[in-house]
Amino acid sequence: MLFKLFKKKKDDLEKDDHYLTLRIRETVQETSDTVTIYFDQPDPIMDYLPGQFLTIIVEINGKQERRAYSLSTSPFVDPFPGITVKRLEGGLVSNFINDTFVPGKRVTVMKPLGNFTADYHSHNKRKYGMFAGGSGITPIMGIIKSILINEPKSEVNLLYCSRSQDMIIFEKTLKELADKYPGRLNVTHNLTQPKAGWEGASGRLNHEKVSEFFANYFNHFAENQRFFVCGPEGMMETAQESLGRLDVKKEFIHSESFYLEKDENQEDDPIEGVINRPVKILLEGEEYSFDVGPSKTILEAGLDEGLNMPYSCQSGLCTACRGKLLSGTVEMEEDAGLSDNEIKAGYILCCSAKPTSAEVKIQID
Ligand SMILES: Cc1cc2nc3c(=O)[nH]c(=O)nc-3n(C[C@H](O)[C@H](O)[C@H](O)COP(=O)(O)OP(=O)(O)OC[C@H]3O[C@@H](n4cnc5c(N)ncnc54)[C@H](O)[C@@H]3O)c2cc1C
Ligand code: FES
Repeated sequence: MLFKLFKKKKDDLEKDDHYLTLRIRETVQETSDTVTIYFDQPDPIMDYLPGQFLTIIVEINGKQERRAYSLSTSPFVDPFPGITVKRLEGGLVSNFINDTFVPGKRVTVMKPLGNFTADYHSHNKRKYGMFAGGSGITPIMGIIKSILINEPKSEVNLLYCSRSQDMIIFEKTLKELADKYPGRLNVTHNLTQPKAGWEGASGRLNHEKVSEFFANYFNHFAENQRFFVCGPEGMMETAQESLGRLDVKKEFIHSESFYLEKDENQEDDPIEGVINRPVKILLEGEEYSFDVGPSKTILEAGLDEGLNMPYSCQSGLCTACRGKLLSGTVEMEEDAGLSDNEIKAGYILCCSAKPTSAEVKIQID
């Protein structure tokens, strides 16, 4: 069938292989503005890799909203999977979750996705450098726990930036892990707005701080080192740039962005000279055909047509909407979520891609 339209309601999503319904088991208030939501394991159990994220799907004011939240738990350590959600001032879903997610509630999610993870092996003798800021600790927490349990010869060094001491997410858990694994987990806290009496590092992350941390735990770059960076945009840029200046090879730095500032002027700009373009999507064994207008992305046009295309962040960061370009050309406003290898292999992000030729055909996994 060349042209088929259907709208998937929430009930239908539950029958779809990409989605799950999870029951909230427990909520734990981590700080005044951050909560961890633990879910019961469904049957069959939900497999995930440390550092992957769930897409939470909720209905607010009659509209379906989706947001990505990293699993802060480790499948090797924690019996129940959990996400940790920090309130964003004025944020729709983060506040909704903090206010309404209570034990017993059932939540529709997209199954775990994401490449921000490590390969774990008991023989590995690695040195890990973790740079986290604010809620960016969530995927890193799952990764740290997984390394400590799976790689007895590896060492983890964390530089964690928070606003003030009462805003440090997982402060107690990190301390307990550092005590349990002496010398194998070293935690440095850095506070941007410390209260009187704080004796640790303070101020914005800068090259001097990254260099000092690097000198303390790594000395010089070696191929058994791996670096993970997750946090606010400015903090991530500083960590990435500084690691580069310290001769750390790019392929040894793994990064995950939760949010990128957009240039509002460019957001809906049509691509010059582009008209409505016909696009074909191969999805769940069917082929669908629809037109994409000049200021729409392929995902927006597909959703307008009622297609059940997978997506989460809608900002080019999470790869939930990833597809393989089989023919034609597209232009992407944002491809931060894709690795160089994925781009070389022809993968695109439908939430960010606009067709720039006729005959665009995309295979969605
Ligand atoms: C792969 C991935 C994993 C993520 N994991 C987590 C996680 O583990 N924990 C967590 O708390 N969040 C996480 N996020 C962020 C989360 O998905 C939401 O973006 C965040 O909760 C804000 O959603 P909201 O509906 O509350 O805000 P919205 O209503 O979407 O946004 C309100 C306003 O704030 C701006 N904005 C949106 N997000 C941010 C931001 N992060 N920083 C600054 N301004 C912003 C928007 O442009 C808008 O103007 C993750 C995001 C991605 C892509
Ligand atoms: S929906 Fe997240 S990258 Fe497209």
